[in-house]
Amino acid sequence: MDSTGSQARQAESEPRGGEQSPGLPRSDLKRVLVTGGAGFLGSHLCELLLRRGHRVTCVDNLQTGSTANLSRFGASNRFTFIERDICETLPASLEVDEIYNLACAASPPRYQADPVHTMMTCVVGTNNILEIAERCGARLVHASTSEVYGDPLQHPQTETYWGNVNPTGPRACYDEGKRAAETLTFDYLRAGRVDARVVRIFNTYGPRMQPDDGRIVSNLICQALAGDAMTLYGTGEQTRSFCYVTDLIAGIVALMEVEPNPEQPVNLGNPGEFTIRELAEVVVRLTGSRSPIAHLPLPQDDPQRRRPDITLARSLLGWEPKVTLVEGLEPTIAWFSGAQSDENREWSGTRASSKAAYSFAETNLT
Ligand SMILES: NC(=O)c1ccc[n+]([C@@H]2O[C@H](COP(=O)([O-])OP(=O)(O)OC[C@H]3O[C@@H](n4cnc5c(N)ncnc54)[C@H](O)[C@@H]3O)[C@@H](O)[C@H]2O)c1
Repeated sequence: MDSTGSQARQAESEPRGGEQSPGLPRSDLKRVLVTGGAGFLGSHLCELLLRRGHRVTCVDNLQTGSTANLSRFGASNRFTFIERDICETLPASLEVDEIYNLACAASPPRYQADPVHTMMTCVVGTNNILEIAERCGARLVHASTSEVYGDPLQHPQTETYWGNVNPTGPRACYDEGKRAAETLTFDYLRAGRVDARVVRIFNTYGPRMQPDDGRIVSNLICQALAGDAMTLYGTGEQTRSFCYVTDLIAGIVALMEVEPNPEQPVNLGNPGEFTIRELAEVVVRLTGSRSPIAHLPLPQDDPQRRRPDITLARSLLGWEPKVTLVEGLEPTIAWFSGAQSDENREWSGTRASSKAAYSFAETNLT
């Protein structure tokens, strides 16, 4: 139990004095809070931070995340899990050096299931986390989204584009919530209260996505593996860019570390642009599926085109995605087909030659 008495769990015992932290000199080791750390991106981020030797606290309400994503950290005495909603008060004893605010359901069916909670997570939750950052003097990276561009009238999307968002439609709880969270973050920054940074994440995929979360990559792979009809919304000619998770996480960490503060949002995503039909064709080829294609009506406010302009990330962070769509889909399909052992090999560094693995996954998790 944590200090406020609500449910909290620690992956193992309290950290011990003199504990070995692999990877970095002790002076570079941080106490890091990851909200949403039990989710898809958050669990990959926790894993990378632990591999680098940091001490990680994950706060998550398990709305869309899973303790299964955290089980791999069970051997680490540098990992703590607190089951909590970020809209609630977090333990006053929490002391951290860095915060990654990822808590928020990301898939449309999940965030639309309780739209008021989604909006509150973005606004009340983000404000709570900003207050913790201010109290601790911690640097913060807030996870925003390409959805702040809505159905964009500018293509590709640069950070200076203000977007084309329906403020009252079914996606607004997320799109406008994320826009409000950016506003809050920049208000804290402008007031000199927090060294805060904002990453606008474009469509990212990889192992640990939920099979039933309604996102396009997981949908198509699961349908192909099951031999079910593969659902294309509208004509399937709408475009998306697909970033593999290891690339994205490396970019988020680079944004945390960059000096000075960019003082503007930074797009992270893979600028390769594919139609949904092309994605379906690659999935069919890689899975050997015989699934037919089924067309359904386009959901309301579904963006027609999406592609990040990553000029800023390239120049500020020296960041560039390395994993091609096929290279990233292979381990993702393997994971969805139940071959999680492949993913574990990837993380343990035995696939060091694979671009779909962190190049710095050289350390262990203990
Ligand atoms: N994956 C993508 O393609 C993508 C794209 C753009 C932005 N993002 C952003 O990245 C972040 C992580 O996305 P993801 O793909 O890992 O989604 P996810 O749904 O797998 O993870 C979100 C995590 O946050 C937790 N959570 C939700 N509301 C919470 C709350 N109020 N308090 C505490 N925990 C809460 C969930 O239980 C889950 O573990 C989100 O903020 C999302 O908006 C993701």
